Amino acid sequence: MKKIPVLLMGCGGVGRHLLQHIVSCRSLHAKMGVHIRVIGVSDSKSLLVPMDVLKEELNDEFLSQVCRIKSNGSPLSTFSALEKGGFRVVGESELRKETEEITQILGKSTGLAVVDCSASMETIEILMKAAESGCCVVLANKKPLTSTLEHYDKLVLHPRRVRHESTVGAGLPVIASMNRIISSGDPVHSILGSLSGTLGYVMSELEDGKPLSQVVRAAKTLGYTEPDPRDDLSGMDVARKALILARLLGKRITMESIEIESLYPEEMGPGLMSVDDFLQNGIVKLDQNIEERVKKASSNGCVLRYACVIEGSSVQVGIREVPKDSPLGRLRGSDNIVEIYSRCYKEQPLVIQGAGAGNDTTAAGVLADIIDLQDLFP
Ligand SMILES: NC(=O)c1ccc[n+]([C@@H]2O[C@H](COP(=O)([O-])OP(=O)(O)OC[C@H]3O[C@@H](n4cnc5c(N)ncnc54)[C@H](OP(=O)(O)O)[C@@H]3O)[C@@H](O)[C@H]2O)c1
Ligand SMILES: *[C@@H]1O[C@H](CO)[C@@H](O)[C@H](O)[C@H]1NC(C)=O
Repeated sequence: MKKIPVLLMGCGGVGRHLLQHIVSCRSLHAKMGVHIRVIGVSDSKSLLVPMDVLKEELNDEFLSQVCRIKSNGSPLSTFSALEKGGFRVVGESELRKETEEITQILGKSTGLAVVDCSASMETIEILMKAAESGCCVVLANKKPLTSTLEHYDKLVLHPRRVRHESTVGAGLPVIASMNRIISSGDPVHSILGSLSGTLGYVMSELEDGKPLSQVVRAAKTLGYTEPDPRDDLSGMDVARKALILARLLGKRITMESIEIESLYPEEMGPGLMSVDDFLQNGIVKLDQNIEERVKKASSNGCVLRYACVIEGSSVQVGIREVPKDSPLGRLRGSDNIVEIYSRCYKEQPLVIQGAGAGNDTTAAGVLADIIDLQDLFP
């Protein structure tokens, strides 16, 4: 049986689903000859590890308890009061140092998959050191990959040991498909995508003639948006995904060089207007302009999509008119879509479409990434 030791950072919606999937897939993985050995779980304040990370693991009952405690909104440090023994709780002050030590010890011996399911910029130091000491790195977190080029190079130092399928289109095989195209020497000319479920939903509702303000309020009520819908409307999250794809294509660019169209003006930004004020009084002022754009597009046989376009050295993120009868134009609701144009996929692009968000699908993508590393472990 191949053993893949895993250290999980982040125990939110995605991290917890990952732990649940790991536990429920035990017999499947056993049939495949693989065992995932969870040797650490951390949240923003503490890390839980077995007494001996080289020999022991956190068992399934323990992992299920981790999920229950985090679902209740309690921190992992709650465990220190449970006095069950068999594990250690590392507190905030030692968190980074201890995590780094574990990655060094295991990276050099049996290998270790460090899995980032946090939404933090702060894991990057740990990840870079882990990559350097021979660990594999699996990410659902986009932020480390969208930092400086210097950081990026350190993270992808050993490309075969880095997986980040879930950073773009959640579980959809976007990165895997691109890697296959790239390694076959088929040059990618351009990529056109709709990479935000929220903005996909908003744009297709606008197409039906509804006002932006009403659509965004409804999306928030349905739980489709971030707590502050401007986090979706700013386009920043789409820009991060676009940057990840562009860098995969070898483009040496940073966030600053991406043209990002925000759906709200600066004066309605989070620092200047509360969420409630924005939703009640701000956003209605944007209705008319966008309605006119929708009508203009329609008169051209087009629809508006919030798209990312990667072509040559340029990466653009914003509203675009696309033909009604193109893959992007036919997209409805919150699905993500990516159209890849290359020499082999010239007239008819390679199209990848499906649910591009959700804790369950995202965690499934992360799990598949971990299993995909099995040949690197003894
Ligand atoms: N949900 C989706 O549909 C989806 C799709 C694609 C990608 N993603 C990405 O997946 C990641 C996780 O998403 P989520 O929805 O699960 O986020 P979340 O619910 O906000 O959970 C984040 C978790 O990370 C922990 N954390 C924060 N800083 C940390 C640190 N320095 N070290 C270790 N853990 C830390 C948090 O700890 P506390 O519990 O202490 O706050 C929390 O448990 C994000 O980067 C997100 O962009 C999500
Ligand atoms: C994902 O998990 C978070 C945290 O538990 C939760 O608030 C959110 O509603 C979940 N999202 C979905 C789509 O289930």
